[in-house]
Amino acid sequence: MAEIDAVPELEQALAEVAAEMAERTDRGDVATYIPQLGKVDPKRFGIAAATNDGRVILAGDADQPFSIQSVSKVFTLTLALGKVGDALWHRVGREPSGNPFNSIVQLEHENGIPRNPFINAGAIVISDVLLAGHQPREAIGEILRFVQFLADDDTIIIDHEVAASERATGYRNFALANYMKSFGNLHHEPELALGVYFHHCAIAMSCRQLAMAGRFLANGGRNPATGHSVVSTERARRIGALMLTCGHYDGSGDFAFHVGIPGKSGVGGGILGIVPGVASLAVWSPGLNENGNSKLGSIALEKLARMMNWSIFAP
Ligand code: DON
Repeated sequence: MAEIDAVPELEQALAEVAAEMAERTDRGDVATYIPQLGKVDPKRFGIAAATNDGRVILAGDADQPFSIQSVSKVFTLTLALGKVGDALWHRVGREPSGNPFNSIVQLEHENGIPRNPFINAGAIVISDVLLAGHQPREAIGEILRFVQFLADDDTIIIDHEVAASERATGYRNFALANYMKSFGNLHHEPELALGVYFHHCAIAMSCRQLAMAGRFLANGGRNPATGHSVVSTERARRIGALMLTCGHYDGSGDFAFHVGIPGKSGVGGGILGIVPGVASLAVWSPGLNENGNSKLGSIALEKLARMMNWSIFAP
C-alpha cells in the first residue's frame, strides 16, 4: 500500500484532477448506440463535490448539462422503494450480474426477475412499478420533480431528443421488456414502461446538479442543508450497497477495487459517487471504457479518492 500523502484542500484536489484529465488523450469512446449521445464532444470534463457541511466545489465543465442515463436509476430505485418498500425485492434481485447492462441471458434462467435494479431489465421493472396508478406522463413528471427536489433546482429538464433517439433504436430494451412481460414481471404494456424508462434516462443534469441530488445518500438519508429526511438511514446504506456492488455493471468489482466508494455510472459519461459522511460527487467525461462506464470519470474518482484518503474501507 502506498504512503498516503498529506490531504489537500478539496478545491485544490478537484482543480488538480480536472487539469490532469484535460491533458489526457486516451478518453475512451462516446456511446453511439443512442445516436443523440454520439454528438457530444469527448473532450468535455466536469467534476463537482457537494459536501455534508454545505460546500459545493466545482472544476472543469461542471455546469454543463449532460444526459445522466443510468445514473437516474439511483433516483427511480429510491422512489420505487418509497412506494412499495421491500415488496420490490420480489420483482428485482440484489446481486451483481457480472454481465453487460443490456444483457438478456440471465432472464430466462431466473424467470424474468432481473438480477438488480441497475441493469436495464431491473430499471424497466422499476419504471413499471412507478407507473402503477399513473399515466406515463405523470410517472415521468413525478421522477423529474423528485430529482429537482433532491438537487433543489427546478431548472433540471428532460432532453426529449435523447429520449426519442433512444426509443428509435431501443430494440434491446424492447426485447428485455417483452421478455419480462412474458414471465408476468411487467404489470403494464412494455411500451408504457419503456416510455417512462427512456424519459428518466434522458434527464439532463450538470455535475453540480447531480452532486446536489446525491447529498442525501452521503448524509444517512437526510438532506444536509435542510435536515429533512429523504429516506431512512438504513435505506440510504442499502442503496449505497447496491451502488457499490452493481452500479458499474460488469465493471463494478473493478470500480470498488480502484475507487473504494459506491458509484453509479451512465452511458452519457456521468458517475455519481458517494463518500458516506463526507460528500456527494459527480463527474462527467463522455468517453467510455470497455464496460460502458466513463473512462476518465472512473480515473478521476480514483485519483480524487486517493488524494483525499476517501474509501468506505478507511479505518
Ligand atoms: O437503456 C440504455 O441503454 C440507456 N438508456 C442507459 C444505459 C446506461 O446508462 C448504462 N450505463 N453505463
